[in-house]
Amino acid sequence: MYGSAYIDPNDKFANEDNPELMAEFEARIERGEKIEPKDWMPTEYRKQLIRMIEQHAHSEIIGALPEGTWITRAPGFRRKLALMAKVQDEVGHAQLLYSAAETLGKSREDMINDLINGKSKYSNIFNYPALTWADSAVIAWLVDAGAIINQVANSKGSYGPYCRALDRICAEESFHLKYGHDNVVYLATGTKTQRQMVQEALTRWWPPLMHFFGPSDKISVHTEKLMKWKVKMATNDDMRQQFLNMYVPKIWDLGLVIPDPLLRKNEETGKWDYTEPDWEEFKRVINGDGPCNKERLAVRRTAEEKGRWVRAALANADAQYVAPLS
Ligand code: COA
Repeated sequence: MYGSAYIDPNDKFANEDNPELMAEFEARIERGEKIEPKDWMPTEYRKQLIRMIEQHAHSEIIGALPEGTWITRAPGFRRKLALMAKVQDEVGHAQLLYSAAETLGKSREDMINDLINGKSKYSNIFNYPALTWADSAVIAWLVDAGAIINQVANSKGSYGPYCRALDRICAEESFHLKYGHDNVVYLATGTKTQRQMVQEALTRWWPPLMHFFGPSDKISVHTEKLMKWKVKMATNDDMRQQFLNMYVPKIWDLGLVIPDPLLRKNEETGKWDYTEPDWEEFKRVINGDGPCNKERLAVRRTAEEKGRWVRAALANADAQYVAPLS
């Protein structure tokens, strides 16, 4: 229905436990070579990549929703145009990522089904509401900043199709970040009401932003294996630190207050101290119990149902699907 998934024609899975193939695979990764879809790879590497790229694709497509609701209400024509282009980019990123995941053998249809049935995860951060225009500005600046930090690191990784998709995505995300920064600066240097609005948005989005990079390295489940295979090129805590280093000074420069009384650069360690994020809330949100999870999946489910006839028509597959009249 979504186009055919790529299935490795050379059935090399039979060699799963072959130590020679494994040694050669790990040596290639060590040398910094890219692994391509038809190359031999351990089943666990394949599974991990599908899990991660699929979650990433879902995050892009769900991530379009909180900002998308602001297209009709964006203040002014130029902001409307810019936001519409950004939202379209995000959906395009999902397409690139679904295609990259398909090269590993999982069909797009299965991925979409796993998303709408709640089996697959997607980023915690898109389960919060964008209550005001300032929320959409904070998302475009700081969530996209966090995404760039994560994606630039991942783009140097070992799986060719994922890295190439990320190169393209990062180029577009850097425009989003500039757009978001411009909107935040406008509000933060505007009227008292505008400053208050952007401060409230930052206060709302800070805790999910701290969660965004994933659980602390002490409790992260997959980091060690993914770093060994160069799927992840930075740990969750490293990415969080990089984000704090780059963006806390910029946020403070705008006179905004970050809602964490412990946040400060520790001169001894050279790292940022911060209040440990609430990992229980994080777990609840990524497991389906955040403020907007149900709403987000309901929208995707509707899009899936309403788009079925289009996909069927494109595939020229089944005469029973006809365009609904309304
Ligand atoms: N939102 C939702 N789930 C998250 C998450 C987040 N911000 N961070 C971690 N998790 C989930 C993981 O998916 C994993 O769950 P699973 O085993 O059921 O799949 C669990 O929490 C444990 O986390 P961890 O072991 O640290 O996962 P990880 O090594 O895969 O690292 C990311 C998490 C997000 C850093 C990593 O998956 C990644 O870089 N993904 C690609 C980029 C991406 O998805 N960006 C988000 C949108 S732009």
